[in-house]
Amino acid sequence: MSARRVTITGATGLLGPRVLAALQEQGTEVTVLTRAPERARSKLGSDVEAVRWDPLSEAAPERALAGRDALVHLAGEPVAQRWTSRAQTAIRESRVRGTANLVAGIEACAERPAALVHASGIGYYGARGDEPIDEDVAAGRDFLAGVCVEWEAEAARAGELGVRTVAVRTGVVLDAHGGALAKMLPPFRMGVGGPVAGGRQYIAWIHEQDYVGLLLAAIEGEQWRGPVNASAPEPVTNAVFSRELGRVLRRPAVLPVPGFAMRALYGEMASIITTGVRAVPAKALVLGYEFTHPQLPEALRSALGRD
Ligand SMILES: NC(=O)c1ccc[n+]([C@@H]2O[C@H](COP(=O)([O-])OP(=O)(O)OC[C@H]3O[C@@H](n4cnc5c(N)ncnc54)[C@H](OP(=O)(O)O)[C@@H]3O)[C@@H](O)[C@H]2O)c1
Repeated sequence: MSARRVTITGATGLLGPRVLAALQEQGTEVTVLTRAPERARSKLGSDVEAVRWDPLSEAAPERALAGRDALVHLAGEPVAQRWTSRAQTAIRESRVRGTANLVAGIEACAERPAALVHASGIGYYGARGDEPIDEDVAAGRDFLAGVCVEWEAEAARAGELGVRTVAVRTGVVLDAHGGALAKMLPPFRMGVGGPVAGGRQYIAWIHEQDYVGLLLAAIEGEQWRGPVNASAPEPVTNAVFSRELGRVLRRPAVLPVPGFAMRALYGEMASIITTGVRAVPAKALVLGYEFTHPQLPEALRSALGRD
């Protein structure tokens, strides 16, 4: 049975509007928690209930939490930017303090929500070689891994309050309108794309429809609890990803991009691109989730509207 009432934070970003649309399509009543309600309504539709919340400074308001079947918590400062110390603080604080303030709101709530489904990232695992990484593998030790560990720990406090909690450790979401794929498109369209930093590192990708599908399954499924890798069953190396993207765009994709060039452009953040995680969605498969786009060539064609 579909959830009746769901609240989303971070609904105004890249993935939030897709989750919101899918929920509305199945008849779910959606509330949006946002720093800017006016902007949210103009982006998402004037009929959307948008409630102001500053995740850094206050507990989430009860009227947006009470009686909800689920909270979907996606809000956070974008990770894909140069990691200056100010950016690192914003990335960490928006997630760690933001999630603590969301859970403080849940704790104060007379009629607590039934579930908290929140974003995390496969960055949780840190840089890995070519071993398949399921949800039982321990956390990494770099900046992003540390953020994910703290972020998940704050969310897990909701579990102690009796709220079913799911940490969606998300890979690279294939969406032509934003995120990593949109950033890769210009050079690949010009025929100057290619494997990055040797190309042997893995990219754990997921089509945006499967990301939404998995999130809906996590909202509705009583058995969905704890960490869940949101990535397709067959992660590929950066070299294979580049080759397939070139094929779909019908452009050569053979110009190697050295790691130092990425580091010059993005600083420490380049590590997300120059190293990788071969994440596998072990938990989602055990729970019976069926991927709509399990193979990269078809998923890329679909995401780029070339099918
Ligand atoms: N896209 C991917 O491939 C990917 C991969 C791994 C993990 N994730 C995670 O999944 C979540 C959703 O991804 P997305 O790409 O849709 O995110 P996004 O577009 O970057 O942003 C989501 C929302 O977060 C809120 N936000 C932005 N900066 C903030 C700040 N400094 N403090 C508090 N809130 C802030 C904004 O909502 P308001 O302005 O309405 O408050 C924004 O619309 C994120 O937490 C992201 O880290 C995404």
